[in-house]
Amino acid sequence: MSDISEMRQRLVSAATQITGIKGILASPSQTASYFIDWRRRYRGEALAVALPTTVEQVSELVKLCCSLGIAIVPQAGNTGMTGGAVPLDDRPSMILNVSKLNRVREIDDLNNSVIVEAGCILATLRETLERAGKLFPMLLGSVGSCQVGGLVSTNAGGINVLRYGNMRDLVLGLEVVLPDGQIWNGLKVLRKDNSGYDLKQLFIGAEGTLGIVTAAALKLFPQPTNSGTAMVSLPSIQAAVDLLRVFAHGAGGKVEAFEIMSKGQLENVLAHHEESSPMPLSSPWYVLIELADSSISWNPNELFEQVLAGAVERGLVRDAVIASDSKKAERLWRLRHSISEANMRKGFSVANDTSVPISKISVFIEQVDERLKQEFKAADVYYAGHVGDGNIHVIIVFDRGFYDSDEKREAAAARANFIVHEASVDLDGSISAEHGVGLMHIEELEHFKSDVDLQMMAQIKRAFDPGNIMNPGKVLGTHRIDAAANVTL
Ligand code: FAD
Ligand code: LAC
Ligand code: ZN
Repeated sequence: MSDISEMRQRLVSAATQITGIKGILASPSQTASYFIDWRRRYRGEALAVALPTTVEQVSELVKLCCSLGIAIVPQAGNTGMTGGAVPLDDRPSMILNVSKLNRVREIDDLNNSVIVEAGCILATLRETLERAGKLFPMLLGSVGSCQVGGLVSTNAGGINVLRYGNMRDLVLGLEVVLPDGQIWNGLKVLRKDNSGYDLKQLFIGAEGTLGIVTAAALKLFPQPTNSGTAMVSLPSIQAAVDLLRVFAHGAGGKVEAFEIMSKGQLENVLAHHEESSPMPLSSPWYVLIELADSSISWNPNELFEQVLAGAVERGLVRDAVIASDSKKAERLWRLRHSISEANMRKGFSVANDTSVPISKISVFIEQVDERLKQEFKAADVYYAGHVGDGNIHVIIVFDRGFYDSDEKREAAAARANFIVHEASVDLDGSISAEHGVGLMHIEELEHFKSDVDLQMMAQIKRAFDPGNIMNPGKVLGTHRIDAAANVTL
């Protein structure tokens, strides 16, 4: 028997003692879907997939892997964009998937908070809270599959960051199993706590490299009493930035989302969708705007008409469609949420996730567009994303047959990424606004972050996980973590 199959057998038999037989998957037909990301770009093999149902089981599984020298790949809904939840082949590992750890533990009405386990699907959480008259405002296209543990660990963004912030702003406390198996109970629901370092922040956005998030205390808001949706077409991206300011002044704090798509992007969504276009496709840019609020009495469509009339007069808006009911609003939002799916169906898509200061969005797009079109004449370049966060995704789509080898295709993706990342960093931006680093951007992080940044990150990693057992090979390369042993900050 090979070393690997012997190791698998030892792991499976000991892990079964912890979780029961249903909590461990090891046969290829059971594990295949856990070993590949949803875009089918990254694939790796682990010895087994564990599906614990309690935090104590997670703790025991971590201790077991430590004792056997097996790495752990934390996984939730496996909808991540950067390969962070996929195992690597260079070291024996076990996927620890939190999907079965999925209870909503407690809703606190007066405190406006909820404690929920890491495997709860976002849509389930939002529906449960809606029935209690509460809103958890995180919303993204993967709402039906992504889970709380993944959202926390990627510090996810989505369409409502403009009003409510990202996961970092929405988490009040965490429960985490540390890399040695200890359970850290940081499930406070406080709005103020200055008693030392804010430890939970280290785990938010850590992409599973510092520990396993098993539960989170999250901020809630009242359900809106009313909401409205409009789609507008615009002459330029600067008009979109200016229009956002017009709405910020004209609609008070009611602007819930302000999402842009370039014409090519909208055309591609429509090509892969049953919907007809909500408006003529004669302008270069389209924005979806959501107004919502829980104030006593207000009419979203009247407010839209009032604000948009001024914007049309100023030449910021060409056409506008205001959804007359919630079904029509849902149809408009379906177009937005279908972007990633439609781009994947169209071809090999390289989706960037940069952010720049809002004041620099227009120059960023101008520079990137010129460079990409010069270098990748045969590709389609689309833009879509979150104007209010300066986080416009630049998406380069190649025909699947365009490159005749994986190597050439990956080289083109790397070059396209570099062009977009360089333009954003030159404008004081970031190479990742919401998707994280995962496997995809490790080298680029090395290139674009300062040595001091990387050294501090590596020291934190070593302090929590000296054996590099938690999601090794993600966010920071192993060489960087090893080098930190010889450096004092
Ligand atoms: P996974 O993919 O399972 O894991 C993501 C990372 O977190 C991995 O590194 C994994 O190791 C780690 N991890 C998972 N669970 C845990 C845990 N319990 N403890 C520690 N580490 C853990 N993202 C956005 O930010 N904004 C968007 O608008 C957006 N839109 C999307 C639209 C579509 C259609 C799709 C498919 C994805 C989209 N995403 C978006 C990306 C993705 O949905 C988010 O990154 C999400 O937060 C991932 O959650 P998940 O449960 O699928 O995590
Ligand atoms: C979005 C994902 C790709 O904004 O972040 O659609
Ligand atoms: Zn996004």
